[in-house]
Amino acid sequence: MKISVIGAGYVGLTTDACLSQIGHDVFCSESDIDKLSKLQSGVMPLFEPHLEKVIEDARRSGRLHFGATAEAIDWGRAIFICVGTPPLANGDADLSAIEGVARAIAKRASGYRLVVEKSTVPVQTGSQLRKHLSKHNTNGLDYDVASNPEFLREGSSVEDFLHPDRIVVGVDSARAAQLLREIYEPIITQRFTCPLHADCPKRNDPVFLVTDTGSAELIKHASNSFLAMKISFINMVANLCEVVGADVTKVAQGMGLDPRIGPAFLSPGIGFGGFCFPKDVQAFIRIAQKSGCDFSLLKEVEKINQRRIEEFVEKVRQELWVVRGKKIAVWGLAFKPNTDDVRFAPSIALVKSLMAEGADVRAYDPEAMEKAKSDLPNISYCSDPYQAAEGADAIVIVTEWDEFRQVNWKRLRSTVEHPLVIDGRNMFVPEEISRHGFRYISVGRNSVVPSQSAIADVNGQRATEANEDVQESLA
Ligand code: UGA
Repeated sequence: MKISVIGAGYVGLTTDACLSQIGHDVFCSESDIDKLSKLQSGVMPLFEPHLEKVIEDARRSGRLHFGATAEAIDWGRAIFICVGTPPLANGDADLSAIEGVARAIAKRASGYRLVVEKSTVPVQTGSQLRKHLSKHNTNGLDYDVASNPEFLREGSSVEDFLHPDRIVVGVDSARAAQLLREIYEPIITQRFTCPLHADCPKRNDPVFLVTDTGSAELIKHASNSFLAMKISFINMVANLCEVVGADVTKVAQGMGLDPRIGPAFLSPGIGFGGFCFPKDVQAFIRIAQKSGCDFSLLKEVEKINQRRIEEFVEKVRQELWVVRGKKIAVWGLAFKPNTDDVRFAPSIALVKSLMAEGADVRAYDPEAMEKAKSDLPNISYCSDPYQAAEGADAIVIVTEWDEFRQVNWKRLRSTVEHPLVIDGRNMFVPEEISRHGFRYISVGRNSVVPSQSAIADVNGQRATEANEDVQESLA
């Protein structure tokens, strides 16, 4: 089918790439001229695993084109709207980009179009879209509006698109449901060439759920808010564990074994970030408020999350006493691993807070440093975790990149000034880190001090170094 996608962010690009991969002819438009020319010349404007290759293959095979919005409107029988819906100051989603696209479609298109909202939008956006399309309809446009929320996680968006648990479509006509079923048929039946695995291990047929538009819109906001609630819940349990001396990882494991709860999204840390959860929780609170429902539960979820940074900075203060002048290695800036996205990343607020207290921050992230520079222009950016840790009074772990699991602790021990790790993501088994001579502070677990043998080793090394210093000064 000829399909258009408007907007080339994470969601738009993944949608383009995957719809082409399953056999459709896709035209993607992007209003940011700079980004558009990058895409037209084969340069990826963002980092997302596998996406570049799938896009490149689709472009080469002639099934994916990039261009202007007007061309996209002319191209597709179905038009997927994937533009941004950033938060306004009052927490509402800013729908001006969606409105702009709707007006452009209504004024330009003639004949039939299925207009699909894929961007995350508040409930009743579909009805507004319908009204807007009729109001500006000048060329005899015949249309359906559908909601088809995305459940794509950054870092695994291609996998999530091609092997979803569910495809939700909210429609107001049988024609729209039929068209969307046709579009997704290869994914529903899992019959397509998987670009990720030759012998794909994740071929479970997803559920194709057809609802009314409002319910589909709510499914998206309710899902993200529920997941955010799980995170805030486990973060509070972590706080309690710290006070009573329990281990939150064991508590989460025990809870997660109940299939009604499930183990996912029970990892405590420095709070949820990214361009989805913080804004979607906020928007859902506003939607409820405007509809006369006081969703105070979610207000608490938000408050707990906002407190995480200050609580974590307090851990740093407890360890360093005075933060001013201390060298702090920050490992990880992206809001989560496998992405270069730093929008609403906990790292930004955390580093700003450490800087405000006079810390000397040296950061390293495998992918996100370029994007962090506009928010954090005054810190040192390092080429690897060791360089960041040179002379450090503390290593602070903010993003759980796999690269950090591979570090050589012995090498690190001789690099830092003080062997202290404050881990906001519970990446390590505490005893393992203490065996390497580090004091290890994590979330919702007891702090561990270096083991006696490690202290003895370190003291031995220190004594030799001190002796050498004395000899040097005498000479
Ligand atoms: C989220 C949802 O998971 C997707 O289903 C949804 O489509 C997407 O938002 C969206 O609305 O577009 P994403 O923001 O990419 O995806 O990232 P998640 O993996 O959900 O993580 C969100 C935040 O929660 C991250 O900061 C992560 O570190 C944090 N998190 C996650 C925890 O602190 N603990 C956990 O147990 C899980």
